[in-house]
Amino acid sequence: MPTCLKNIGKLLNPKPDGSFEEISDAAILFDREIIACGSESEILPEARVSGTEIVDAEGMLVTPGLVDSHTHPAFAEFRAGEFELRNRGSSYKEIAASGGGIRSSVRSLRALSEDELVLRMLPRLDTFLRYGITTVEAKSGYGLSLDQELKQLRALKRCGDQHPLELIPTLLAAHEIPDEYRENRRKYLDVVVNEIIPAAAENKLAQFCDVFCERGVFSVEESRVVLETGKRYGLIPKIHADQLTYTGGAELAAEVGAASAEHLDFISEIGIERMVEAGVVFTLLPGAVVFLGLTRYPPARRILEMGGKVALATDFNPGSSPTQNLALIITLACVFCKMTIREALWSATLGGAYALRLNHRIGSLHPQKQADFVVWDYSDERLIPYNYGMNMVREVYKNGSLVIRKGMRV
Ligand code: NIG
Ligand code: FE
Repeated sequence: MPTCLKNIGKLLNPKPDGSFEEISDAAILFDREIIACGSESEILPEARVSGTEIVDAEGMLVTPGLVDSHTHPAFAEFRAGEFELRNRGSSYKEIAASGGGIRSSVRSLRALSEDELVLRMLPRLDTFLRYGITTVEAKSGYGLSLDQELKQLRALKRCGDQHPLELIPTLLAAHEIPDEYRENRRKYLDVVVNEIIPAAAENKLAQFCDVFCERGVFSVEESRVVLETGKRYGLIPKIHADQLTYTGGAELAAEVGAASAEHLDFISEIGIERMVEAGVVFTLLPGAVVFLGLTRYPPARRILEMGGKVALATDFNPGSSPTQNLALIITLACVFCKMTIREALWSATLGGAYALRLNHRIGSLHPQKQADFVVWDYSDERLIPYNYGMNMVREVYKNGSLVIRKGMRV
């Protein structure tokens, strides 16, 4: 039986060109998918005839569900001690070099059973929904061995199978060199290429293959090997590029035809050009810049001027960005990257869908696309970034089912 959401004060529907269709006094008719969406005077009579259940948006704003296209939720423990160290003057890189950082998350993840990991992740998935996020890309990358990377990917699959949130899995075995291969990095790369990528692909546990291309982590040459191997196994490339230093990761993203390149705080002008030409999405993560106490933001204005497609994501992880609040990231993108409110909202919805190559079924509200949408606590979208750090989500529908009511999980 379809449902009709009536009395929508303002419906903002992202369009492929980066703008929005805006409808006042709107209604949406839906089951698992959108059936029709438009002005209430057209939709409501149609709904009444078919005996549809009618629910009231009380004049509020409705947008598509937010799409968080870059997260690392499969971790064991938060790393608050590192926040304290940075607060006293250490840098993210120094902490990593002394054995902390990603490698500390690897040690705690390895000590946790798959069942326990599932139990720790499920409440995090509820939190994403409470922030209006209906699709999440989720990376491995804290296992760094065949068994441990597969354990994370299996745990992600089990979570996705029992939770309404949709999880899109990414293999990030090339996130760091684990402790046992520090003296022989070449050998770890062989494990990634010859064992982990084939096993993840053959077991259908990942759709994307990612790499942390950064000075002191994986070079451009090594990253190319990882991403090309992933492609041979049917995994779409994604890349952490030009985050802390310029490496040329953006140029590599264009060369291998990545779906998106992410962070990009140090991207070059040529990197921007090549990514635009190759149609690679620019996934910006200003939360990681703020949280690490850094000052260089990705050049969002230049990227948009040159015609780039931008996605905004939380980068939720225990090191550089322990937040699941994508609306807060919209605020940061407005304040520090000088994106307009509408550009930022577009980037957190349809932009994220493009970054995951899922724009045919999520990211905007059209017949045959998924009925994933948010009813906000007000009718003015400017209040999304304005009420920064607050959660102003009222209701969330995922595949047509009400999953959040009055901000709480139902
Ligand atoms: O996107 N840069 C690499 N990976 C993550 C951080 C992971 C961590 O510190 O645990 C990021 O910032
Ligand atoms: Fe990341």
